[in-house]
Amino acid sequence: MDGVHKEFKLRHTHSIKETFVAAVRRKPLTTKFHALDGISFEVGQGESIALLGYNGSGKSTMLKLISGVLLPDTGRVLTRGRVAGLIEVGAGFHPDLSGRENIFLNAAILGMSKKETEERYDDIVAFSEIEQFIDTEVKHYSSGMFLRLAFSVAIHTEVDILLIDEILSVGDEPFQQKCLARIRELHAKGKTLVVVSHDLDMVSDLCERGILLKDGKVRYDGASKDAVALMRN
Ligand SMILES: Nc1ncnc2c1ncn2[C@@H]1O[C@H](COP(=O)(O)OP(=O)(O)OP(=O)(O)O)[C@@H](O)[C@H]1O
Ligand SMILES: [Mg+2]
Repeated sequence: MDGVHKEFKLRHTHSIKETFVAAVRRKPLTTKFHALDGISFEVGQGESIALLGYNGSGKSTMLKLISGVLLPDTGRVLTRGRVAGLIEVGAGFHPDLSGRENIFLNAAILGMSKKETEERYDDIVAFSEIEQFIDTEVKHYSSGMFLRLAFSVAIHTEVDILLIDEILSVGDEPFQQKCLARIRELHAKGKTLVVVSHDLDMVSDLCERGILLKDGKVRYDGASKDAVALMRN
């Protein structure tokens, strides 16, 4: 991340009449809000980073920039290798398609061919433990079932960089433990991790480095334990 700025517009009117009155009075209809305000840092291959900060501090925005879902207003975000993001529950899934069809869709988005996906299909379903519902349209899935499918697909692709935003929290305890074990395995194999979670003990244990965001700026960048301590202060 090199000098990254991302701003959003905040609307201050909620009806045509209000907009008209505000325009006549020359009041601003929107103000700018800096979600990320000049962020620079580098993440080396194989590092594990915890992205920390209070609600609204810009963590999800940062992951979306890394995954390419959002583009920065100024500055540069450069990544090398395949990036897989588990950013929002249900993101990357089509509600009217079945779990099976969505596995292929999701895997294709992550850059896998149909043949590669077919080869790994059984493992993906087995890891997710939702075989019984695999032909159900995913709009009827629970949050945990979405997570199970999305996580299974992501870890069965050839990713170099795995981004995880909070979504593990919708999984039940046994599945969370299984995910964490798999994340540690991926890290041991040299994959790069960027993890966002409000489970501070879990992330400081999982990640070596912590980046603490506050008001869109990097407040601290160092050992994850120290970042967590600073946040709790
Ligand atoms: N598309 C958007 N339009 C307007 N404002 C946005 C948009 N996306 C994010 N924001 C604003 O940017 C700020 C940062 O949001 P972000 O989702 O990155 O926070 P976060 O650190 O992930 O918080 P949380 O811990 O609650 O998940 C928030 O104030 C949010 O309202
Ligand atoms: Mg968030």
